[in-house]
Parts: sequence; C-alpha cells; structure tokens
Amino acid sequence: MVVQVVSGMISEFDRFCSDAADIGIAPEFHARLRSIDDAARSLDAAALVEARKKMVETACLHFREGEMVRHILDKPYGYAGDFEVIDWIYAKRVAASTDRGRFWDEFFHVQDAPLAVNWRRHRFFDELCLVVEDREARQKPIRILSVGSGPCREIVDGLKALALDPDGVAITCVDIDPTSVAYAKRLIQAELPRFDRSFMFHIGNAMRFRSQVKFDLIWSAGLFDYFNQKQGAFLLRRLASFAREGSRLVIGNFASSHATRAWIEWCGQWFLTHRSFKDLDDFIDDDLRECVEVSFFTDPRAAINFMALDFQRDLDNGQGGSTRLVQ
Ligand SMILES: C[S@@+](CC[C@H](N)C(=O)[O-])C[C@H]1O[C@@H](n2cnc3c(N)ncnc32)[C@H](O)[C@@H]1O
Repeated sequence: MVVQVVSGMISEFDRFCSDAADIGIAPEFHARLRSIDDAARSLDAAALVEARKKMVETACLHFREGEMVRHILDKPYGYAGDFEVIDWIYAKRVAASTDRGRFWDEFFHVQDAPLAVNWRRHRFFDELCLVVEDREARQKPIRILSVGSGPCREIVDGLKALALDPDGVAITCVDIDPTSVAYAKRLIQAELPRFDRSFMFHIGNAMRFRSQVKFDLIWSAGLFDYFNQKQGAFLLRRLASFAREGSRLVIGNFASSHATRAWIEWCGQWFLTHRSFKDLDDFIDDDLRECVEVSFFTDPRAAINFMALDFQRDLDNGQGGSTRLVQ
C-alpha cells in the first residue's frame, strides 16, 4: 500500500516539475520532496531502492537537462562530491545548452546545499585571516593543512585576496583522488603561479595521512560527512595530533538542520551523514577535550555545521593519548 502511495507521489512530483521551467518553481517544491521522503520511511529496503529508481527515471529527467544535476547523478569520477562539481558550485556554473537546462542549473545554485558549500569558501577566508593576523605567534612559514582538499578553490581565492608572500605560507593538501589533485595543481598554476612552491600534495586516504610537522590551521570541510561516527572520531583524533598549542582545527559537516536533504538524496543520489553540533562534539575523546576549547557555528541557512578546536596545548605532549606524531 505504502509502495503505491510513494509511487503516486513521485508521479505527481514529476508532473509538477514538468511545468516548472515555464511557470517557475512553486514554494511547495521542497515540501513535496520532504513528504515523499517521510512516506518512504516505512518502505522496506527493496521498495526504497525501487522508489528512488523511479524518481531518477521520471522527475530527475527534468533536472538532468541542466548540467549540475546530470553530473551529480552520473558521477563521472565514480563518487558523489567530486572536485569538478564542487568547483562548478563555487563558480555557480550555468552552461547547459538549452533554456530549460539553464533554468535548472540556475535553480540548483540557489538551493541551500550549494549556497552552504559556497559559504565554506568565505568561512575559510575568515579562518585564514585569523591565522595570518596572529602571524607573530605562528611558525614561519604559517602552515596550513587541508584534508579532502578537492579543487582547493577556497585556498586559492583566500591567498589571492590576502596578497601574502609565497614564502610566508606552506599549504599541505590531502586528497584520495589523483584526478582531483591534478585539477587543483592546474588551478594553482593558472590562478596563483607564484604560490606553486607553497603547496604540497599528498594523494591518499586522510585516515592514513602522517606528518612530520605540525600545522597552525587544519581545515577539513566536505569530508567528515562521508564517514560514520567511529571513522569521524578516528580522523579528528588523527588530525588533532598534527596541531600544537595555538593551532586551530576546523571541520565542516552537513547539518541535521539542513532543509533540502531530501532534494540532494532523492534527486542527486548524494547521501551524506548529517550531523548536529552534539554529534560533532561526540567525535572528541577525553584526552583531546583536555587540550582544546571547542566552539560551533553554522552557515546562514543552517545547512552545514562546523566545529572548531582551539588548542591550548599539544595532544601528544606526554599527557596525550594513543595517536602520536613523530616530529
Ligand atoms: C566534497 S569534496 C570537498 C572539497 C573541499 N574540501 C571543499 O570544501 O571545497 C570532498 C573531497 O574529499 C576527497 N576524499 C574523499 N574521501 C577521502 C579520504 N578518505 N581521504 C582523503 N580525501 C578524500 C574527495 O576526493 C574530494 O576531493
């Protein structure tokens, strides 16, 4: 019975979307998606797969006319949230070849999720300013670690805006995807050639990353949402071992308050673990908590939550826990 109800709701949503490019998106667009999502909660696993398939094969055909949703659904690099689509989100790219396609791309860019991703870039700039303003207290060069670095767009934009001396900053980027790293390197060469030698890239799993040096700012936005609680806690602890007294570690994660979750899941097949501040706080173990001041913030739409750890002392100064760093 529920199967038919959900199937009928998806058919109605498909009809509703077929007019949208001519008459505009009605306010109930997301409400309809949320109703489908709510109704689908009582489906068994097999029926849920069928319902999601129906959405992709009906309503999503409209969105696929645009380049953004088409890319997100097709996952040309084999995973959701690749460097290219993230950079298209930063660029607010509208390049579909038809009017309807451009309509859907424009629509895409004003949804909460891409707006929040874009906001990450502004937040990174603020974090960079903080670390630079306090440069006397820092190492020389200032050391920044970006984990799950993707296109590095936020770093490139931040460095361009601040007009720093390339020798005054050393940025280490970790990403598991070699294609993503190649893209970031091209971006740096094209937009920030003077800083070519300021960047160092590690291709590999962040979980296994090790460092001989400590960092002033550790930034990881758009990665923790792909991990379960145990993995997230492990990675936070690992990253914390690269911090020293005075360092700041900032992680971002899609928020449990994100209002368009149904849109990204049903129409983008993009599944993330959404987290509250409390969930993020639960990543912190007792040893780590003793070393840090913890604060939380969110973007203006409350779509992405951030947790910042300000280190009052090193984690591995002899009193810390099990993840030790060889200096
Ligand atoms: C959604 S993007 C975020 C990019 C960037 N941080 C930003 O906010 O613009 C996630 C990135 O993490 C990378 N990634 C995914 N799993 C990873 C892992 N286990 N270790 C390192 N990088 C990973 C992906 O290749 C991708 O470039």
